[in-house]
Amino acid sequence: MAGEMTRRAFCAGTVGTAGLAALPLSAQEAATLTARVSTAQLAPVSYPATAVWAYDGQLPGPVLRVPQGGRVTRQLVNALPVPTSIHWHGIRIDNAMDGVAGLTQDPVPPGETFDYDFAVPDAGTYWYHAHTNSMEQVARGLAGALIVEEAEPPEVDRDEVILFDDWLLNPEDAQFMEPFNHPMSLSHAGRMGNLLGANGTYDPVVATRPKERLRLRLINGANARVFILRLHELTGWTVALDGMPLPAPEAVEGELTLAPAQRVDLIVDVVAEAGAEAGLLHLGDDDSWQVLVRMPVESGAASVVRGVPVPLPPNPRVELPSLETARRLEMVMEGGAMAGMASARFEGKDMGFRELAGRGQFWALSGQSGMSDTPFARLERGESVRLKLTNATVFPHAMHLHGMHFREVHPDGSFGPMRDTILSLPDEPLEIAFVADNPGKWLLHCHMLAHAAAGMISWIEVA
Ligand code: C2O
Ligand code: CU
Repeated sequence: MAGEMTRRAFCAGTVGTAGLAALPLSAQEAATLTARVSTAQLAPVSYPATAVWAYDGQLPGPVLRVPQGGRVTRQLVNALPVPTSIHWHGIRIDNAMDGVAGLTQDPVPPGETFDYDFAVPDAGTYWYHAHTNSMEQVARGLAGALIVEEAEPPEVDRDEVILFDDWLLNPEDAQFMEPFNHPMSLSHAGRMGNLLGANGTYDPVVATRPKERLRLRLINGANARVFILRLHELTGWTVALDGMPLPAPEAVEGELTLAPAQRVDLIVDVVAEAGAEAGLLHLGDDDSWQVLVRMPVESGAASVVRGVPVPLPPNPRVELPSLETARRLEMVMEGGAMAGMASARFEGKDMGFRELAGRGQFWALSGQSGMSDTPFARLERGESVRLKLTNATVFPHAMHLHGMHFREVHPDGSFGPMRDTILSLPDEPLEIAFVADNPGKWLLHCHMLAHAAAGMISWIEVA
């Protein structure tokens, strides 16, 4: 039964009914977001619905759409049995609204509320998720898309948001496997699921027509899984990464890698004829390509074939860090199964491996496990920073900086695209650089959420 839940053949299986459509207007207009207990039919209908925690009872949460330069104004209503908070991932946000329990706000107790109200200076594909015990709360479903719309959007027939997930369900009853802090998840690759899907179903479907042009906003909402994707019967271009437009669209050739929390905006054209099926494939654990999102091609008025799309309009903040004057920092990732670490500092004390493991800590960032009282670095506002990330573990890590986007610095000194989350591979040196232009206390952590909970979490302060 577990096998049946982990893979499906192309074109096989039942037709999912869960729509990928936008939310009812009422949900978008409501000024609240209520985190509450709900159910979702994640698995095939032959299984029971899964008990979830979800914003407004929907998994994923409602798609929030706001115009660039506008404001997001939402009252979080906590109807959960535990404290919670919301982080608005990738937004160049006012620090007080960043949603990090214990750093930028107190967690919101059950029955209470918190008013989030912030400007969104950058257009693009972002997302929001719980940031109080996020390892468990995100896994239970507390995540949704936040779309900041360009004043002049690109010319496409449709704009589709696809939030991927990777649920770890008990194959007997389709309920979440517990505990969420299983030592295996903490010390190995994180909480890896046995049922992949998107938009709240194992079988997401986006109906298309021949030659249709779609903007696909792909979001990896999984706790730990890195999705390796391929287009099927689609041609396309990458137009933005982690919300930020690329200077020019880049043709998709081969695979797309989407680490946890990363986003990619694609513009794709359907190349299949009516009656065929296009879609998004992913590389399964057994190294075969499997369908992740089905895109049946229906007959109907076909669009005309268009040329290469024009670039998205640039966001206002594209200042390049100055490599010469930049402050140089280095962060070493260590720990985890197979590599281990002899000792680290945790809650102000030096501890050996056994003591750390006894407290659920398996990882460290430059000798520090978990949050420290003092920041990893204090930066001047406007200062350029180069941060070397050294992965001394045997696992990949999706390193995320709050509040500011950064760029990879290639060995020849050239810059990669702006990102807020980057995949660091074992033994592959990586350097990022950014301009510390957003004042406040900002987390820097692994977005494999079990890794963050087990030590891979740090913070910087911008004056
Ligand atoms: Cu999306 Cu601190 O994370
Ligand atoms: Cu990690």
